[in-house]
Amino acid sequence: MPRMRLHIIFLLLFCRFETGISWTADQFKVDGKVLELDESNFDSAISSFDYILVDFYAPWCSHCKHLSPQLDEAAPVLAGLKEPIVIAKVNADKFTRLASKHDVDAYPTLKLFIHGVSMEYYGPRQSDRLVQYLKKFVAPNVSILTSDSAISGFIKEAGTFFPIFIGFGLNETVLSNLAVKYKKRAWFSVTKDFSSKAMVLYDLEKVPALVVIHPNYKQQSIFYGPFEDKFLEDFIKQNFLPPVVPLNHETLKLLKDEERKIVLTITADENEDQSQNLVKLLKEAASANRDLVFGYFGLKQWEDFADKFEANEKTKLPKMIVWNGDEEYFSVIDIESLGDEDQGSRISQFLEGYRQGRTEKKTVKVPLFMGLFKSVVGIGAFFIIFIVVTMMIIMIVLMVIISKDNEPLTNDSHDKVGHAESSEAENSQYRPEKKED
Ligand SMILES: *[C@@H]1O[C@H](CO)[C@@H](O)[C@H](O)[C@H]1NC(C)=O
Ligand SMILES: *[C@@H]1O[C@H](CO)[C@@H](O)[C@H](O)[C@H]1NC(C)=O
Repeated sequence: MPRMRLHIIFLLLFCRFETGISWTADQFKVDGKVLELDESNFDSAISSFDYILVDFYAPWCSHCKHLSPQLDEAAPVLAGLKEPIVIAKVNADKFTRLASKHDVDAYPTLKLFIHGVSMEYYGPRQSDRLVQYLKKFVAPNVSILTSDSAISGFIKEAGTFFPIFIGFGLNETVLSNLAVKYKKRAWFSVTKDFSSKAMVLYDLEKVPALVVIHPNYKQQSIFYGPFEDKFLEDFIKQNFLPPVVPLNHETLKLLKDEERKIVLTITADENEDQSQNLVKLLKEAASANRDLVFGYFGLKQWEDFADKFEANEKTKLPKMIVWNGDEEYFSVIDIESLGDEDQGSRISQFLEGYRQGRTEKKTVKVPLFMGLFKSVVGIGAFFIIFIVVTMMIIMIVLMVIISKDNEPLTNDSHDKVGHAESSEAENSQYRPEKKED
């Protein structure tokens, strides 16, 4: 223990010494190339640049090798922006102290540092899409659009990753605080100069109005006020996701951050015409029940997931339940299925029943919880954790056997484990999960 402490003190001294001779901003050549950082210059790079994307890579990892040329391509484009974004990389396999300080437990890990504050980058990794995604972070807080073509240009430039809020007939000051607060989640703009054609195009009954477009889902919602902070903020927060979310592995991750309960509809086949009609009804229900999120998926598309909510071929579909996004869900008594006829009023009855508490609380099927876990953390990570756990069990058994035979040998077996683990990591290109949950 005392030795450990001494070690830490030494490290602290060492750090001080390092910062003492630290690099200064002009020592980084900003020429559109990816900066290679190490322990000596990492911190000063982070403090020198307002926006810097760091790739924590390992030389042997194949995903990293794919990413690297994409970053090389994106770097000059991002460096040329009015508000430049620098790309840097760190060999996390070599500079392990730096990597663990930044919670790097898989390769590659991308982190975006904005004014020194880091956030994990989960955006696209292909250079042009990566550039488009990152532009969100350096865009004006609220863009001012002065014509119909400026509006359509703005939507096109924004891409499909973030929702786009457009205030028609609104002053930017109405949105500015919230636009700063939610800068990382959405695009914000206002326009006062638009034609009646634009009103038709965006389905506006009147102005002022705040439209939110979800380009990825081809959906939009409109808010007609009141444009006061509380109401406005609720509307914005409730519209980072589209009103009706098609459920898949990606959107499930987004839903994990939701505070609202999820009204989940399971159809037989989400691509059938009947399901598309049902989605229209769900959109209507969603706009009248903004305190809930609406999601749907087809049994045919995602059978495992349907099974968690006791939906299978024998179930009368479409089935509707309210899910808390975790292990608990509710069915509404007497409304097991939406049936084929007049689904609109069945949905209303369902929601009414739910709000009145005529519900039955259920638990997501336990044996399949692993499946849910798998869908959340990704099959790869699940597989690795499985292997690591298996190896640990084998190791413990071996240690028990060895220690019975010969006490001093236990240390050797420890080393072997270390080796086995790291070669496993190499094969799978990811480090085994080290955190204990
Ligand atoms: C956005 O707003 C913040 C806080 O008011 C301000 O510091 C920042 O400069 C603004 N960003 C842009 C791009 O206008
Ligand atoms: C918003 O209002 C302020 C004054 O309150 C004004 O200076 C500004 O030009 C207005 N912005 C737009 C886009 O009309």
